[in-house]
Amino acid sequence: MIKISTDIDFAVQLLNNEKIIGFPTETVYGLAGNIFSEKAINRIFETKQRPKFNPLIIHIANIEQLEQLAIEIPEKAKQLAKAFWPGSLTLLLRKHPSVTDLITAGKPTVAVRIPNHPIALEILNALDFPLAAPSANPFGSISPTTANHVADFFPTEIDAVFDGGECQNGIESTIVGFDNENVIVYRLGAIAVEDIEAVIGKVKVFNADDIAPNAPGMLKKHYSPKTNFVFTSEVENEIKKYQNKRIGVLSFDKNYESQSIAVLKILSVSSNFKEASQKLYAAMHQLDKENLDLIIAEKFPDKGLGKSINDRLKRAAEE
Ligand code: TXA
Ligand code: MG
Repeated sequence: MIKISTDIDFAVQLLNNEKIIGFPTETVYGLAGNIFSEKAINRIFETKQRPKFNPLIIHIANIEQLEQLAIEIPEKAKQLAKAFWPGSLTLLLRKHPSVTDLITAGKPTVAVRIPNHPIALEILNALDFPLAAPSANPFGSISPTTANHVADFFPTEIDAVFDGGECQNGIESTIVGFDNENVIVYRLGAIAVEDIEAVIGKVKVFNADDIAPNAPGMLKKHYSPKTNFVFTSEVENEIKKYQNKRIGVLSFDKNYESQSIAVLKILSVSSNFKEASQKLYAAMHQLDKENLDLIIAEKFPDKGLGKSINDRLKRAAEE
């Protein structure tokens, strides 16, 4: 059985022995292993049932470690690292030959970030290798934001998850890549596009409707509950369509009243995007356990973190 632990030495011991662990970051919990252990990396893919064409993000303790992983780092990447690390920004950089194709899925780029969570940093600082860590959920399902979410997903598959409480940001990191002078946001995430633009100027946001060959992880269907899931800006109209059903509503800030609503989750009564993103996945996990016929999720205002949240809700609703 999986242990929910707070013993950092135990985490370090497992990782030094090529095991994989659940570990907290400020975005979501990760499923972490030694980037130089083929055994550990293979275990990550097997445990998540993740296709091998989908590359992993590498987590480092400090910016000095970047030199072992990436080459030809663009000036704008350095500016972004300086502004946001440790934090929820993942940089796609030209990979160093020492990084295996297993991690990058054979791509010329490697994804790297320094997480901003005291336990993640403590673990990383105690190791002499970086950690590869995708989100600690089975491929395609809702990402975990508590140690219990991880334990529920992998009760026997991994030895331990390290408890760092609820993730402060609650959605995955924003992924940014570079194409000559252009900066491209490949995955909307916990750092708003506007905040990135404040540091380096205009960026291109990759069209989330396409599945681009150079961002295989941006799958159309993702972050999905088992319950039918509808994403709409017309919540009231949608509710009317399902009179005799048990409905769950995931609302940004509004209170909805109807006989058919069995469970209502309001993510932020004060209309705060940050609070809403922090609570998003936990609310989705809870709604998914309520034996509902349908979950209706409200579309957020399309700006700031609202954009990132809409991206996740839209993918959750894909058939
Ligand atoms: O916040 C996060 O980023 C969390 C925490 C644990 O750090 N991690 C996370 O990992 O969300 P994952 O594996 O669930 O999502 C990583 C995404 C995938 O869409 C993957 O395809 C993309 O990053 N990615 C990783 N390496 C890449 C590369 N070299 N080129 C393009 N995309 C890459
Ligand atoms: Mg993921």
